Amino acid sequence: MELITKAPKGTVDIIPGESEKWSLVEAVMTDEAELNGFSEIRTPVFEHTELFLRSVGDTTDVVEKQMYTFEDKGGRSITLRPEGTAGAVRAMLENGLYNGGYPVKLYYKTSCYRYEKPQAGRLRELHQFGVEMFGTAEPAADAQVIAMAMSIFNRLGLADDIEVSINSIGCPTCRAEYRKALRTYLEGYKDQLCETCNSRLERNPMRILDCKSPVCGEIAKGAPKITDYLCDDCRAHFEKVQMLLKSIDIPFSIDPGLVRGLDYYTRTVFEFPSKRFGFALGGGGRYDGLVEEVGGKPTPALGFGLGLDRILMAMNEMGADFGNDSKCEVYIASLGEAAQMKAFQLTEKMHSCGIAADCDLCARGLKAQMKYADKIGAQYSIVLGDDEIANGEAVLKNMKTGEKKKISLNDDFVDTYITAVTEQEDAMPITF
Ligand code: HAM
Repeated sequence: MELITKAPKGTVDIIPGESEKWSLVEAVMTDEAELNGFSEIRTPVFEHTELFLRSVGDTTDVVEKQMYTFEDKGGRSITLRPEGTAGAVRAMLENGLYNGGYPVKLYYKTSCYRYEKPQAGRLRELHQFGVEMFGTAEPAADAQVIAMAMSIFNRLGLADDIEVSINSIGCPTCRAEYRKALRTYLEGYKDQLCETCNSRLERNPMRILDCKSPVCGEIAKGAPKITDYLCDDCRAHFEKVQMLLKSIDIPFSIDPGLVRGLDYYTRTVFEFPSKRFGFALGGGGRYDGLVEEVGGKPTPALGFGLGLDRILMAMNEMGADFGNDSKCEVYIASLGEAAQMKAFQLTEKMHSCGIAADCDLCARGLKAQMKYADKIGAQYSIVLGDDEIANGEAVLKNMKTGEKKKISLNDDFVDTYITAVTEQEDAMPITF
């Protein structure tokens, strides 16, 4: 029985009371993305497995350990997206979005699936807000996406909790030298590295640097740093990114150990670790070789993914003010059958004018209706009985201040309601 009454491990329901907070946070992110010229893209929740093997990389934890992969009834290997970038790249190419000129700027809100060991801030179904920008190799693009993420954290009241960490992991040219040096260093610890890292030593030693095993982590600390191997172009690029960030007062620190857990990155990588929680609320970077890897023309690109679950968790823990989550502006209570009918019609009229209104749908008495109006946080109430219907007039009451105003129940109902409300002072609080 438990199987059907409990959500699968590592998943959560986002229920009323929480979902409103999610919508507010997503609205801030969407607004910020649109301010920066990004347009929304929605891609399928599943893709051909090959897409993730080629992009995320077959020696990453995500691909080796965490993907939800299955064969569909047509015998194809399908994977639930573990992240948003690969699908966005595929969709950009498949739909020829580059035909409109560069840079192409996309954003998305998606669920992702990773078979992880669930714990606080680590889920199997996680949610990300991501942006991807295609067609520019300029450091200004790197600085713009980092600034944009920081602006989001600012608006959400999280900026003080975030430390921006940046690094450059170079291009395939400078990385070849680095890999050699890294492999030589790691070979000295071969018998201490975990089994997975031993298998990565030949194929992709950089992956060992983000292994979660404490022993491998300690070994990684003494490893050569990629920043000492950057070629002139990569070094100049990284310096310009830093200069631009400084010019707009974005504080950051350079973390030469930051390599990120996905294979597609080149040059700038960054993360937004929460000081309070220890985990990253987001991360991203450049991936100048990925579009070509997926079958397109060589196209520089970059982006970030913000972890919505973690951001909401952080905001809740920090007691963020999400404002008034009341769904109801005005509750129209009624006494008697004729009044109930009138309340129903007036409520519908309110809806057609974009006003959040509600009336009794449970055949309750007046007292119970008013209790309900209170519970749902209605700002105003109107009580209709036989007298009100006969007079074509009722009283609009401000539930908080008790202030009362007369309004018409005739054709000018909505107009008189709006006039009465705008004459009152306590407007709904604007959040963020
Ligand atoms: P990522 O670092 O794997 O990057 O994930 C981005 C963010 O998603 C993390 O910083 C974290 O906040 C959240 N996250 C990741 N895994 C989990 C989990 N199991 N539970 C809860 N939250 C999680 C990417 O996914 C890249 N696609 C980002 C990117 C976009 N790079 C370039 N463009």
